[in-house]
Amino acid sequence: MIVPNGSRVLETARLILRPFKESDGDDMFKNWASDPEVTKYVTWEPHTDPKNTCALCKMWEEESKDPKSFRWTIVPKELGEAMGSIDIVGLHEEICRGEIGYCSGRSGWGKGYMTEAFRAVMEYLFNECGFESIYGRYDVRNPASGRVMEKCGMKYLGEEPFTDKRTGEKGTVGCRLITREEWEALK
Ligand SMILES: CC(C)(COP(=O)(O)OP(=O)(O)OC[C@H]1O[C@@H](n2cnc3c(N)ncnc32)[C@H](O)[C@@H]1OP(=O)(O)O)[C@@H](O)C(=O)NCCC(=O)NCCS
Repeated sequence: MIVPNGSRVLETARLILRPFKESDGDDMFKNWASDPEVTKYVTWEPHTDPKNTCALCKMWEEESKDPKSFRWTIVPKELGEAMGSIDIVGLHEEICRGEIGYCSGRSGWGKGYMTEAFRAVMEYLFNECGFESIYGRYDVRNPASGRVMEKCGMKYLGEEPFTDKRTGEKGTVGCRLITREEWEALK
């Protein structure tokens, strides 16, 4: 059974993961949401008005009071600003499975931040929230995303077709999964 512990603050060597606040809107706009390079393989358009980003952060701040919401902003300690997000984008309670989603600003890419963030989230979800497995999907044209999943121990299941909601284009996603047992065996 999923244990509704919500999105408590998680800390790693280099990162603080915490729920979003309305006041993160300007940093989210500046650091990642307005960058078309960042949104290339996600399901939403780049933001064009920071007011909308602030409104979204306000909504997420409200949502974070729901103990079945699992969404964090990633704050590198050396930066002290919201630099990305990591969240459970789909929760399948009947089988205690979550689908992971993540996104971060270009200036933070390639430093191992997302791998560090995902490992912390995985540990929390398996240890404290009753998750039995975590699933992930990524556009095959976006291998960095698949690599993060691979580094976190997710096994490759195969590919499946998808239709880009924004453009209607047909594409392919790679699918990965890790079970609680597989995660425990990594330790
Ligand atoms: C995908 C994303 C989250 C990765 O974040 P990150 O902090 O750079 O990730 P990490 O540094 O932890 O790891 C990235 C890995 O991908 C590898 N990588 C980067 N570009 C790559 C490419 N073109 N092909 C193969 N591997 C690549 C890196 O070398 C690194 O692996 P390594 O440690 O073995 O060298 C980030 O690029 C991002 O936010 N992109 C835009 C949004 C997005 O695509 N989100 C995912 C949607 S499913």
